[in-house]
Amino acid sequence: MGVNAKVVIIGCGISGIAAAHRLANAGFHHVRILEATARSGGRIKTGRLGDNIVEIGANWIHGPSEENPVFCLARQYRLLDPEALTPENQAMDVGGHPPWVPNIFSSSGRKLNTEDIYPALEMFAELMYESAEFESQGGEPWACVGDFIRSEAKRRAAEEWKDIDATTRSLRLCVISNMLKVECCVNGSPSMDEVGLGAYGLYKTLPGLDCTFPGGYEGLIKNLMSELPSGLVTYNQAVRCVHWNNTEKKENPVTIECNDGERIVSDHVIVTVPLGYLKKHHSALFRPLLPLHKLHSIQRLGFGTNNKIFVEFDSPWWDADCEIIHLVWEDEDVMVDHMPDVQRSWIKKLFGFTVLKPTERYGHVLCGWIAGHESEYMETLSEQEVTHTITQLIHRFTGNPTITPRRVLRSQWFHDPWTCGSYSYPGKGCSAQDLDNMMEPLPMKGSQSQPLQVLFAGEATHPCYYSTVHGALLTGWREADRLISHYSSISPSEPPKSKL
Ligand SMILES: Cc1cc2nc3c(=O)[nH]c(=O)nc-3n(C[C@H](O)[C@H](O)[C@H](O)COP(=O)(O)OP(=O)(O)OC[C@H]3O[C@@H](n4cnc5c(N)ncnc54)[C@H](O)[C@@H]3O)c2cc1C
Ligand SMILES: *[C@@H]1O[C@H](CO)[C@@H](O)[C@H](O)[C@H]1NC(C)=O
Repeated sequence: MGVNAKVVIIGCGISGIAAAHRLANAGFHHVRILEATARSGGRIKTGRLGDNIVEIGANWIHGPSEENPVFCLARQYRLLDPEALTPENQAMDVGGHPPWVPNIFSSSGRKLNTEDIYPALEMFAELMYESAEFESQGGEPWACVGDFIRSEAKRRAAEEWKDIDATTRSLRLCVISNMLKVECCVNGSPSMDEVGLGAYGLYKTLPGLDCTFPGGYEGLIKNLMSELPSGLVTYNQAVRCVHWNNTEKKENPVTIECNDGERIVSDHVIVTVPLGYLKKHHSALFRPLLPLHKLHSIQRLGFGTNNKIFVEFDSPWWDADCEIIHLVWEDEDVMVDHMPDVQRSWIKKLFGFTVLKPTERYGHVLCGWIAGHESEYMETLSEQEVTHTITQLIHRFTGNPTITPRRVLRSQWFHDPWTCGSYSYPGKGCSAQDLDNMMEPLPMKGSQSQPLQVLFAGEATHPCYYSTVHGALLTGWREADRLISHYSSISPSEPPKSKL
């Protein structure tokens, strides 16, 4: 009889689609999705650069193996390359950091010898591994990952590299700065000084060597959407306010007010809007307001910006086997990962590029990565300004003034009004409790009002896979299951909540 309940889902990203999918399969026939934009997919967004497919949003399946539902769906829909399906690929445990072949250039225009700086890469990897261990141990010697890395790197460098010449030692510390910028992109944080040390290890990885969708990540969305009843999604329908806890009417305790003034009554609403949007609009989005502990968790959890800058070249200036290019500034041995003067130095935050592979498919296309406030500033510049600055940067680091990009395309996630950034990270002072608070439905336990009026899904509500597509997908299923099991536990003699 739950199948007669009215369920409204706010947002048609992967979490909203997953929730609708599961409810529809369980026979719920009063399910609809309200989506602010004209498209499905949210932060899964495939674009074009010339003839090439490029991912404006999500890029990889992180940890593609049996436990990863995105991998299983992509396999079922035949969206993956054969290599990604091999048992060897699924068994590879890279702990979130695929072993890519690097090319490393410095700001004085030299290609660096990987052997010289390899000890810095190794030390950094160890420190990141150790950062994750404070979660289970409890007790953190520093408030943020940045402080831990800096203090430990300084100490270990003085000890382990004391016989190394000063220039090489300084260069290795500059490499640590570069690796901190990489981590800002991975975490979506403005600086590793914003990531809580005790909470960093909440994030869990799955086995499997990260893989991409040769035909674009949106293929996953298209396949899932094709299995939903047509007309289930209303596009260009932004929600302004969720009025919940309506005690006057026993039926339909929730009213959803849209930007165009339309009001939709329902029994349940599943809110999947990004954390960035919630941070900005929570006070207008809920009547009554959210309980304080939930609000505090929304504020404590971080939501930052990570953007991509795709650059296409006529010919490569990197090695044939190169998978990632690092740009190391030789004046950064103090281990900094954010710029005091964003307007003048924003480009120094770009850690480098990943190489789109295979070359036969993409030609010579690089993807530049830039996180933080520098990235948010980059969004305000014209495409020509960005292209000009990137070109100068490549001239400087290669020492070759003739290299000219053919095409450039960048993402602008911070200024997307329905996302307000890229993805969530555990801020300073965060704990597992904050993610628990994020996913807690309203009204709170013990209330006399109708249960499960407002449910919360989306990337930022997963206890250990936040910031990922598989995390988001699982939260959509989780909230659908919450409703399904709620109704299956009610005795069938009770009358249905709403009439047909
Ligand atoms: C640059 C970038 C790179 C990434 N790379 C990866 C990656 O490689 N691998 C990976 O696993 N993950 C990656 N992610 C993260 C991944 O994309 C997200 O975690 C996931 O797509 C989030 O899904 P969601 O359903 O929670 O949110 P979203 O996809 O953001 O969906 C929310 C939807 O709500 C809508 N909405 C917002 N406000 C309203 C409103 N008021 N009314 C109605 N609708 C509203 C939005 O328009 C949107 O469609 C990346 C993200 C970015 C930005
Ligand atoms: C919800 O309504 C009940 C009954 O009127 C009331 O006691 C309770 O305080 C309300 N909750 C909120 C969060 O407003």
